Amino acid sequence: MIPRLSRRNFGKLAAGASLATVATGYSSGTTPPQAQANAATPAATLAAQTTAREFPQGFLWGTATSSYQIEGAWNEDGKGESIWDRYAHTPGTMRNNDTGDVANDHYHRYKEDVALMKRDLGATAYRFSISWPRIFPHGTGQPNAKGLDFYSRLVDELRANGIEPFATLYHWDLPQALQDQGGWQSRDIPKAFADYAGYVAEKLSDRIHHFFTINEFRSFTEAGYRRFDIPAPGGSRTVFLAPGLRLPAAEFHQVRHHAVLAHGLAVQAMRAQGKPGIKIGPAENIETAVPLIEAPEHIKAAQTATREMNAPFLTVMLEGRYTEAYLKETGKDAPNFTDEDLKIISSPLDFVGINVYLPRFYVLASDEAPGWHEVPYAKGHAKAPISNFPIGPEALYWAPKHVQSLWGAKAIFITENGCAGEDVLAEDGKVYDTDRIMFVRAYLTQLQRATADGVPVKGYFYWSTMDNLEWTAGFGNRYGIVYVDFTTQKRTPKMSASFFREVAKRNAVA
Ligand code: FCB
Repeated sequence: MIPRLSRRNFGKLAAGASLATVATGYSSGTTPPQAQANAATPAATLAAQTTAREFPQGFLWGTATSSYQIEGAWNEDGKGESIWDRYAHTPGTMRNNDTGDVANDHYHRYKEDVALMKRDLGATAYRFSISWPRIFPHGTGQPNAKGLDFYSRLVDELRANGIEPFATLYHWDLPQALQDQGGWQSRDIPKAFADYAGYVAEKLSDRIHHFFTINEFRSFTEAGYRRFDIPAPGGSRTVFLAPGLRLPAAEFHQVRHHAVLAHGLAVQAMRAQGKPGIKIGPAENIETAVPLIEAPEHIKAAQTATREMNAPFLTVMLEGRYTEAYLKETGKDAPNFTDEDLKIISSPLDFVGINVYLPRFYVLASDEAPGWHEVPYAKGHAKAPISNFPIGPEALYWAPKHVQSLWGAKAIFITENGCAGEDVLAEDGKVYDTDRIMFVRAYLTQLQRATADGVPVKGYFYWSTMDNLEWTAGFGNRYGIVYVDFTTQKRTPKMSASFFREVAKRNAVA
């Protein structure tokens, strides 16, 4: 098992922390002032609905994808093999033996997809990832001009359609040649990653102004090199990803360290080789502790828990040190690192990107160390369809709020948020995904609350632009706001696409 920093001990509640202290402010029989105002001026209500819940001016509305999940063309134009090509071609790894060989055929259909983003989604930004083995087929050495050219054409197409490109440099498709040399276990990989990142910045930062270094440090290290348990009501779900290794603790912690070191080295290389002023940050699936009750002691507890839960990734990147609790918890298996490593890892960033799907857990304050305790999900807690992830819209308030209050971030992007659904084409050819619209509306309401509080969130990327290969779960887990028929490659915007378009147009929760 991965050493978890969570506390399942139900220690004493902090003094004064009980449900009784959660005053609503209104005793029964009293009408809240807002309701009174609405009743007094009914005509004002409609106007209030159309102007309320607005996001700050200039807020970006985008969707996200990744190379292996949509591109296909896995061995075209000189692309090298990635660990995902190898893994998906290994029998028994993927549901229904699905692979990314063709996926959404986006490599050949990118113009159609960009047109759809503009026309049907009204998007003003797009987050995609660059496939490392398209650029460096062997991971290092001679670059492949045709690979780079694909992204150059994609970026031109986006810009021509008024869509701001946001590129992720690593969304898990490591060149297989580097895996053969030890993969993320090897200390040479961070350097190879920085060389690749610097090269891409040199070639494309004239038109790409925002880069994410690595997507979800936690997911690819834990699920690829040990095991990744995601909380779910009534139990947890274990996810495995390529290259499918199960390393002993010490080696696994070293992999985590190499991932953050790669991030830091890449930031430095990109600043050295890219155009002045490019903006760089990570895209991490922050583990968010949500205060079960919004009272100061529980909020503090949630903040402390969030910092500890993210110790190996965001915390070290943003503070330049591993927390004492993390080093104590990992003990003799703690990663080997130097002071110089820590300086590199905490190279200054322009923004923090966070992927937020769920609260990692709810917390209450505790008088006992470490000052908080985990409240497990009730068995009947609401679950997202298919993935069974717990639904907790407040995570989209607290995640950015913690990032601001813990680390003083000046700019934050929500780099992923969304849910899978059992989407079907109705007889009229449409997809009525009420579940997804309900999910996104609830999460966006909380995000808007964060921006109204002054949390500097600059944009939101829905995962995903269109249904795609959901890693080992295959094509059955549909996360898109555009439905894809994988036999014909026909794209059909779902009702959630119309919802998204309305949100983007109004710059408000619709
Ligand atoms: C995230 C991944 C993304 C996609 C969504 C559903 O963890 O970054 O590629 O799989 O989950």
